[in-house]
Amino acid sequence: MDITIIGTGNMARGIAARALAGGNTVTLLGTAAEKAEALAAELSGDVRAGTVGDPLQGDVVVLAVWYQALDDVLGRYADQLAGRTVVDITNPVDPQTYAPLTVEAGSAAQEIAQKAPGAKVVKAFNTTFAGSLVAGEVAGQPLDVFVAGDDEDAKAQVRRLAESAGLRVLDAGPLAHARQLEGAGYLHMAVQPGLGGTYASALRVVS
Ligand SMILES: NC(=O)c1ccc[n+]([C@@H]2O[C@H](COP(=O)([O-])OP(=O)(O)OC[C@H]3O[C@@H](n4cnc5c(N)ncnc54)[C@H](OP(=O)(O)O)[C@@H]3O)[C@@H](O)[C@H]2O)c1
Repeated sequence: MDITIIGTGNMARGIAARALAGGNTVTLLGTAAEKAEALAAELSGDVRAGTVGDPLQGDVVVLAVWYQALDDVLGRYADQLAGRTVVDITNPVDPQTYAPLTVEAGSAAQEIAQKAPGAKVVKAFNTTFAGSLVAGEVAGQPLDVFVAGDDEDAKAQVRRLAESAGLRVLDAGPLAHARQLEGAGYLHMAVQPGLGGTYASALRVVS
């Protein structure tokens, strides 16, 4: 699969590392070409570098940016996102205090769906920390990736991407459940001080 990742930060690194490990093609779009080139140089596999503003390509577009940057990204790309699988990984928090934000649409993912009509929005990866994505596991166990969305084909694409990368996918239901996933992502952040603050844990369902 062709995956385009907007952003070159921690989560871009983690998701790109897994996607490449799964044999996918990854295009990284950075706010500056050098940022995408630098991250691409760290990774191995079929990885390309570009700049935010380049035309989108590929089956799946991952928005690996903070909630606060979404308006800018959507302003630039809403038209091109129509018809594509768009993965929202954000946990909306205040960037200064890390307090959770209330999103009028219900969740960041639903807000994206409103602002980018036609985009097949899937909430995923917001409960997995960047470092654990690079490693692909925590304590020898594969990561669980919770996926919510209204388009079954788009969810299936994200499932194929995650499973190709050795991750386990749990279907969390419709996009309306992104709100609960964002709550779970926040909860996972909130318990970090009690775990040593290393952000090295994983949320996993045991059955
Ligand atoms: N880190 C985690 O473990 C984790 C886990 C789950 C979910 N998340 C979520 O994942 C998202 C990304 O987190 P992160 O840790 O990867 O953040 P990060 O390391 O700060 O990376 C953010 C990226 O977004 C880029 N960016 C900023 N404004 C942009 C814009 N207007 N257009 C395009 N790109 C823009 C940044 O580019 P510049 O560097 O040039 O500013 C940077 O490459 C957040 O929403 C967060 O809530 C993070």
